[in-house]
Amino acid sequence: MKTFTMPGTEIEAPQVVLGLMRIQDKTDDEVRTLVSTALDAGIDFMDHADLYGSSYHGCERRFAEALQLTSSERDAMTIQTKAGIVKEGPYFDFSYEHIVQRVEGSLEALGTDYLDILLLHRPDALVEPDEVARAFDDLHHAGKVLHFGVSNHTPGQIELLRRSVKQPLVANQIQMSVTHAPAIAAGVAANMGDLDQSVDRDNGVVDYCRLHDITLQAWSPFQSRFFDGPFLGNPSYPELNKVIDRLAWKYEVPVEAIAVAWLTRHPARMQVVLGTTTPERVTAAAKGADVHLSRAEWYEMFRAAGYTVP
Ligand SMILES: NC(=O)c1ccc[n+]([C@@H]2O[C@H](COP(=O)([O-])OP(=O)(O)OC[C@H]3O[C@@H](n4cnc5c(N)ncnc54)[C@H](OP(=O)(O)O)[C@@H]3O)[C@@H](O)[C@H]2O)c1
Repeated sequence: MKTFTMPGTEIEAPQVVLGLMRIQDKTDDEVRTLVSTALDAGIDFMDHADLYGSSYHGCERRFAEALQLTSSERDAMTIQTKAGIVKEGPYFDFSYEHIVQRVEGSLEALGTDYLDILLLHRPDALVEPDEVARAFDDLHHAGKVLHFGVSNHTPGQIELLRRSVKQPLVANQIQMSVTHAPAIAAGVAANMGDLDQSVDRDNGVVDYCRLHDITLQAWSPFQSRFFDGPFLGNPSYPELNKVIDRLAWKYEVPVEAIAVAWLTRHPARMQVVLGTTTPERVTAAAKGADVHLSRAEWYEMFRAAGYTVP
């Protein structure tokens, strides 16, 4: 597994991360096998959220109850979670009380004294950056959160937070797969007035994060669009699957690895957040970090996914 020192942290981070959004109904054995398979593949970085599960902290609790980590096992992992979404409504809440209360809930559910990284899950239109800064300071000084970041944020929203928050914002987790790559595709079509692809809906977030050493994390790396099933083997993407099958054969890896390789080949050095609960798919996907697609292959997948290279 390829790793890198995550800027703004001391974390030696793998390029592929295990997301635990879908483990609520898994048995202890299933969770243990999933996580140990990930660890065997070099994936020691776990992505959670207070929101995941049938109730708040449901998947965090499932994870902790199944694994019963010793303190040295816990210290050997990077545990990241998120806060800021209120399911009822729904609405977003970056108030001091909400952030602190949800972190306390995550610590309790995860059975740990500290989070390695806390992300603000989705932008709150009513955010008061000074209040976020106060919450981060208190959590940081108490040793409860070591590092902070955001998710689904635009450059402007990150800048707004950065004016008040003292700690570096080390990650921005956004949806990204070869079939859902508007944040990359808009730049490729820059200045092409007749192409809808040229509309930059994310305000240059990929370049912004590269410029500011903010690690991009790609969620839903296999979903064709928004939670509507994977593009692998999907008859709606015949051209893309043909190219992926050919590259999988060439590099002697499973197709999941090629889907991951498209993301890890990007020089932004994104982390890929897997959501599969199938251990074999974790092993397969992890191999993607070691495949270096050529430029021609990367663009071929991009075109086959339906994007235009003008
Ligand atoms: N920041 C955010 O706003 C946000 C939003 C959503 C998710 N996330 C994070 O991102 C992680 C990944 O999200 P996701 O689960 O939507 O991503 P994903 O990895 O694209 O999708 C995984 C889902 O696809 C299924 N699948 C079917 N065929 C597959 C194949 N060949 N390879 C891989 N998966 C296949 C999996 O089923 P099986 O389980 O049966 O294999 C699973 O249900 C989550 O766990 C969470 O940590 C973050």
